[in-house]
Amino acid sequence: MKKVSIVLSFAALFIAACSGGNTNTTSTETQTTIDATTPEATAEVEVPADINALLEKNTCLTCHNANEKVVGPAYVEVAKRNYTPEQIVELIYKPKPSNWPDYQTPMVGLPNVPKEEALKIANWIVSLK
Ligand code: HEC
Repeated sequence: MKKVSIVLSFAALFIAACSGGNTNTTSTETQTTIDATTPEATAEVEVPADINALLEKNTCLTCHNANEKVVGPAYVEVAKRNYTPEQIVELIYKPKPSNWPDYQTPMVGLPNVPKEEALKIANWIVSLK
């Protein structure tokens, strides 16, 4: 199910990108202009099984998807903020909703996520750039 929708949304993006010529007509989420990003920057990422297990166990998947905005931002979007893994761990424990003014429901801090697991997730998010 999930896979299918990921594939479908990728196909939609791809078609939109092609029919839109060289202007970026697919970006509805951010108004910030990011130069030097190629269309490949929006390619879908696969979540490794061990990371997916951690995301699931720690309830992250309730609100986050690697590629798509859900309740919270897509992890590929978080990756673009160029945080260090340590900063991401901090943000898991103490989110700063002011970093994401477009999101109505703020993330609640998750102090019960073991540090080691938070760091693994954080390292993975950083690797999505
Ligand atoms: C209840 C829904 C919810 C859950 C559960 C949740 N998040 Fe979030 N997350 C959000 C929202 C909404 C935002 C953006 C607004 C904010 O930061 O409050 C966000 C933002 C983030 C950010 C960006 C922080 C920043 O300031 O740039 C990271 C990283 C993140 N979440 C990681 C995680 C991880 C890892 C987990 C699981 C351990 C998790 N989230 C669980 C909703 C959630």
